[in-house]
Amino acid sequence: MQMRKKIIAGNWKMNLSLSEGEKLADVIMAEMPATTAEVIIAPSFIHLANVSAKVRGTSIKIAAQNCSQHNAGAYTGEVSAEMIKSSGAYYVIIGHSERRVYFKESNELLLQKINKAIEYKLKVIYCIGENLAQREAGNHFDIVHEQLKAVLFNLSAQATVDTIIAYEPVWAIGTGKTATPEQAQEMHAYIRDTIKTHYNADVANAVRILYGGSCNEQNAASILTLPDVDGGLIGGASLKAESFISIIKAAN
Ligand code: 13P
Repeated sequence: MQMRKKIIAGNWKMNLSLSEGEKLADVIMAEMPATTAEVIIAPSFIHLANVSAKVRGTSIKIAAQNCSQHNAGAYTGEVSAEMIKSSGAYYVIIGHSERRVYFKESNELLLQKINKAIEYKLKVIYCIGENLAQREAGNHFDIVHEQLKAVLFNLSAQATVDTIIAYEPVWAIGTGKTATPEQAQEMHAYIRDTIKTHYNADVANAVRILYGGSCNEQNAASILTLPDVDGGLIGGASLKAESFISIIKAAN
């Protein structure tokens, strides 16, 4: 079984002014512990170029939080994969539950976005996860299965290996109510097993699956050390250098 390199990604969502974001990047760089984990930060579109310039030459990589499914053209307010790439970002988060819920992004649209990101050589962080009603009804495996089948399983085996999956139960996002280690491990193992069934064991063993949802410095170690958890997608706790750094340390 191969060793998967862990990833700690901070999703800043719609937070921080330009100067606050630059300052946070400065402090993260200054206090970065020795780590084998890949560290990613995802500022807003409008700050991508500045924050990318800040971290250039370090091991920190930049992600966008979304991208358009279109190449270019008359799509007022949209941001293309090419623009993101040219701003110095390396990754793009696609399918975050906030995009699915508030902006009605369907699995079909997300597949188009992922294909566009891949075309422009951005690496994708694809988010999946069930909401509270789905969990309580016992449908969480079916929901996650559909999010994999309708989107990820249209990609080649290599493209899937290159994609980072983020399992973020919607009921755990921003609620302070994190999945228990048992719930996280159970779902991550299910995702890996579903990938193995669709592709093969090599793809399943190579793909990185992150956990997201109220991950913080207190609970990070108990989640990040689970066998099928390859890192974290961190929201609120990534907005403070101290907690983000603690989580990076917990991934070692
Ligand atoms: P919180 O860590 O704030 O719960 O957010 C998780 C998330 O949505 C990361 O994408």
